[in-house]
Amino acid sequence: MPGPTSLNMSLGEAIYTLRAIRRQKPDPLPENDLREILEAAIRAPNGGNAQNWHFLVLKDADTRAKFAELYREAWWAKRKDEGINGPEDLPPGKNPRQSAMKMANEIGISPVIVMVCSTAKGANARASVIPSVQNMLLAARCLGIGGTITTLHATVEERIHQLLDIPDTAEVVYCIPLGYPRGNFGPNQRKPLPEVCSIDRWGTPIA
Ligand SMILES: Cc1cc2nc3c(=O)[nH]c(=O)nc-3n(C[C@H](O)[C@H](O)[C@H](O)COP(=O)(O)O)c2cc1C
Repeated sequence: MPGPTSLNMSLGEAIYTLRAIRRQKPDPLPENDLREILEAAIRAPNGGNAQNWHFLVLKDADTRAKFAELYREAWWAKRKDEGINGPEDLPPGKNPRQSAMKMANEIGISPVIVMVCSTAKGANARASVIPSVQNMLLAARCLGIGGTITTLHATVEERIHQLLDIPDTAEVVYCIPLGYPRGNFGPNQRKPLPEVCSIDRWGTPIA
């Protein structure tokens, strides 16, 4: 069984500095590092250990370029569902929406895009792949590689399946662009723990 030979960063440092890295360099990722990231992904908890996941790794430049077009279309389809019709409707300044839009424009730059698929249908099956994504991002962080969790939209689903030969029995849950960051890892910004945590009864604050 392969071991985590290069995942030497402390788990604490990885957790506390993990951020959504949307701006990525085009530089290729070392094969061994990519392998290590995927090996970490498949070690995640999952429902009944059924391992109903499949990791479709896009490396080919032409495939990534075709995927990127569909990704941008999907991103705007999601915004239209929210009543956002163009960049002018997005909150201005530095915020996750602006950076997500920029990433939607340039996701093809990322040297690797991992399509995290469920090989079974339904909400439980989809939920079961989620821990693998966190393992993947933490392993990537240890190797200095950034990524972001992204989703698609029904409007592009069929074309994505055709492009990537994804069987009808499977579905794409997340797309994770991976690459070396342009910019820095964490710390991230979160609400303080007492705002989101209670002890024994809802509303009883943590000490
Ligand atoms: C289920 C899920 C879906 C997400 N979808 C997107 C997405 O479509 N596009 C995107 O840029 N970021 C997406 N994100 C990333 C979040 O925006 C990000 O985790 C959040 O803003 C916190 O960022 P930070 O860790 O850098 O502070 C998603 C995250 C999750 C957990």
